[in-house]
Formats: sequence, C-alpha cells, structure tokens
Amino acid sequence: MGYIDEQRCCHCESPILAFARKQGDEDANMRLKDKIALITGAGEGIGRAIALSFAKEGAKIIIADINPKNAKKVSEEIIALGSKSLAIKTDVSKQKAVIPYMLKQKSGKIINLSSQSGKKGNSWYAAYCASKFGIIGLTQSLALEFAPYGINVNALCPNVVFTSMWKRQLNQYAQKYGLPPKKVKDFLMSKIPFGRFPRLEEIANVALFLASEESSYITGQSINVTGGQQLI
Ligand SMILES: NC(=O)c1ccc[n+]([C@@H]2O[C@H](COP(=O)([O-])OP(=O)(O)OC[C@H]3O[C@@H](n4cnc5c(N)ncnc54)[C@H](O)[C@@H]3O)[C@@H](O)[C@H]2O)c1
Repeated sequence: MGYIDEQRCCHCESPILAFARKQGDEDANMRLKDKIALITGAGEGIGRAIALSFAKEGAKIIIADINPKNAKKVSEEIIALGSKSLAIKTDVSKQKAVIPYMLKQKSGKIINLSSQSGKKGNSWYAAYCASKFGIIGLTQSLALEFAPYGINVNALCPNVVFTSMWKRQLNQYAQKYGLPPKKVKDFLMSKIPFGRFPRLEEIANVALFLASEESSYITGQSINVTGGQQLI
C-alpha cells in the first residue's frame, strides 16, 4: 500500500481510487487468474505450499487430500487470502479426475511430484525410488500422449524438504543408524552444494512456473529442485 500516497486520481485527487486502479492492474497480472487447480495431497507439506502460491496468483483451488480435516484447514487459509477454494476428501490412488476435462478443453497443465530419488537409486529406498522413477516414466509418456491436446505434463524432483514426511523419515534414519536426528540432518545438509535445505516456497515457485503460461513450450521434463545435489 506504499503507493497510495504517490498516485492520486487526476480528477478528485483521491488516493483510494488510485489504489483501486492499481489493485485492478495487479489482478490482471496474476499468473493463474481464472484458472482452476486441483491439488492432491495439499492438506500439508509441499502440496499445501503449492496451493497457497497458486491461490496468491489468482487460481481457484480444489484441495484434494485423504485427510479431510487438513484439507478443510488449507481451504480456509486460501479463502482468507481472498481466493476461492473447496476441500474434497480424496484418495488419489483411486482417482483420475481431471484428465477428461483437459482433453475436452484442449489445454491443461499436469505437474507430478517425483524426487531426486526418481533419478538416482538409494540404499534402503528401493520401493520409494521405484515409484519415483515410475513417475518420471509416466510424465514422459503422458507428455507425448497429451501434447496433441495442448496439455503440458511435467514433474518436480526435489531433494530433502522438511515436511511431516521427512520428519518421519529422519527419525527412522536416526533409529536405524543409532544417531541423534540432528547428526543425520547435518549429514544430509553437508551433501547439498547450497549448504541448506529448500524452503517450501522454493519448490512451490517451480510448480507455479510449470502451471503458468511462462512454461507453455515445456513438456515431459522432470525438473531438479535440489540446490545442486544431483550433481554430486
Ligand atoms: N519432503 C520431501 O523431502 C520430498 C522430496 C521429494 C519428493 N517429495 C514428494 O512430494 C510429495 C509430497 O510430500 P510431502 O513431503 O509434502 O509430504 P507430507 O507428508 O507433508 O504431505 C502429504 C500429503 O498427502 C496426503 N495424502 C497421503 N496419501 C494420500 C492419498 N492417497 N490421497 C490423497 N492425499 C494423500 C497427506 O494427507 C498429506 O496431506 C510426495 O509425493 C513426496 O514423495 C517429497
């Protein structure tokens, strides 16, 4: 609101009118204005961060999570931001809700969540790696299948993001190696060239790019968001 004093209506000198016009300009510049985003697993963690960042850019958000209480909470946060939102209890393993609509409207953006474990094997992680490698294959195949319909299909490959999922894993690692969780955390951090874990919004920003028109010519890509960790 710093610009209220700098810009005034040329007729009545009203700073409030000037603010309203500016606000309108900002809305027009929103990167996902009038888009609808269905975000699975958005009740917490990375999904929640993506939902909030999309809402700030003007999208209406459907929070589809297996945990209805968390889904409702995030949906309310989005409504409090001034955007529209709906919470739906969903088991993503049993749903393929949006693709028929995207095919019909001949546009859409699909963003899958893979991992750095989708590109490199890891001991004690066979099932997780297999599923995340699979997501990259799925992403590439669907990108080819849906390109004629104007649908972009990409994936994110983050490293360690400290969500509930990773807190659980950290404790398992700590138990397994008989080390305090802090030691395990420091060890993991020492493997990242940037020397720190990502902030949730740093993952969400890449999802936002992939959901926006800025990535209109990108499809079938699985983008590392790892602070350079995949290089070593
Ligand atoms: N956290 C990391 O370090 C990391 C790194 C790379 C990739 N990923 C991937 O990102 C995704 C999100 O991870 P996160 O760390 O935010 O996890 P999280 O545990 O913080 O959140 C996961 C959310 O998904 C919901 N969920 C679980 N099963 C579901 C189902 N069957 N249907 C609908 N919702 C379901 C949970 O209720 C929860 O709200 C996962 O696919 C994970 O593998 C995470």
